[in-house]
Amino acid sequence: MTTDSRSTDEAARAAGLEVRPVAGHIGAEIEGVDLAEGLDDAQVAAIRAAVLRWKVVFFRGQRLDHAGHVAFARRFGEPVVLRKRGSASPRDVPEIETTADRLELGGRFGMDHDEWLQRRRHTLLRGWHCDHGARIDPPAATILRAETVPPYGGDTTWSNLAAAYAGLSAPVRDFVDGLRAEHRLGVGYQPRPGDDAYVRHLLDHQVASLHPLVRVHPETGERVLYVNGYYVEQITDLSRAESAAILDMLLDQATRPEYTVRFRWEPGSIAFWDNRATIHLAPSDNAHLGFPRTMHRVMLAGEVPVGVDGKPSEPVTGTEPGRW
Ligand SMILES: [Fe+2]
Repeated sequence: MTTDSRSTDEAARAAGLEVRPVAGHIGAEIEGVDLAEGLDDAQVAAIRAAVLRWKVVFFRGQRLDHAGHVAFARRFGEPVVLRKRGSASPRDVPEIETTADRLELGGRFGMDHDEWLQRRRHTLLRGWHCDHGARIDPPAATILRAETVPPYGGDTTWSNLAAAYAGLSAPVRDFVDGLRAEHRLGVGYQPRPGDDAYVRHLLDHQVASLHPLVRVHPETGERVLYVNGYYVEQITDLSRAESAAILDMLLDQATRPEYTVRFRWEPGSIAFWDNRATIHLAPSDNAHLGFPRTMHRVMLAGEVPVGVDGKPSEPVTGTEPGRW
C-alpha cells in the first residue's frame, strides 16, 4: 500500500469515487458512494488508499444501520468485540459501542461530568489520544458514525502523526527514533479526597505497555511520532524531568494546527481513521450545552507496534495481543 497522492487518486477514479482533501496534511471527504449498498473491491481499495494517505476520511449523509456499519467495517479488517460496553450499546451487535449518555462514565464513579473531565485533564493536551493506546495492540482503525449531534459544538479534531514526525528537525528525529515510552491507562488522574472509586477501578484494571516513541507504520512504512497526551506516562531511560520536558515538546509538535483537521458532524456522518498514524481530540465544548449526542463506534483489530529498530512493543500489565 502506498501513500502517494497520484495512486490514491487513480484508485478513486477507478472506483468512481471522489476524494476531496480538506486540509493540507490530513483529512479527505469521500463522495460518490452509498455505504449501505455494500462496496465492490475497487471501492474498498480506493477507500483504503485514501485512509492511508489522508489518515482520516469522512462520509456524509450515509444511512447505515448497526448491521451495515459492521459489514462496512469488515471489508477493512476484523472488528474488535469489547468485553464491557456502555449501557447504550446495542446488545445484539457486539461489535458496536454506543456513546449516548454523557453522564454515564463519570456517574459510574460518583462524579458529575465536569468533575470527571477536570480530574482526568492533567495537561491542556490531555484530551488527545489514540483509541486504547495503552494496549499492547491498539486498534488499527476506528469507524465512528453519528446518529444524533448537537446543533453546534461537539466537533472532533485529528492530527497526522507521520506529518508531525516529518516536521521535526533531523537531529531531534534521530534522538527520538531510539526511544520508548510507557503508555498507561489513567495517567495523571487527580484523585478525589478520601475514597475514590475511579482510583480503585484503575488499580483493579491496570493496562500499560511500552511502545516505541517512533512507530513504523505496518502498511505505509512511514515513521509516526507515537505520542499522545492521554496515555503517555514517561519516556523510558530518561529522568522524570527530562521526560516531562521532551514529552511537552513532542506533544506540542504532534498537535500543531497545520497537522490537524476538524470535522463538523451531521446525522449520518462517518469518520474512518487510521488509529496507528493519528491522535484525536474528543470534544469538550458540548457537555454543558445539554444537547444529545449519540455516536456508534466500530474498531478494527490492530498489530503490536514496531519501532525504527524493528523491536515490537512490550506489555507491562493487563494486556495481551488479541485479548480484549
Ligand atoms: Fe477516541
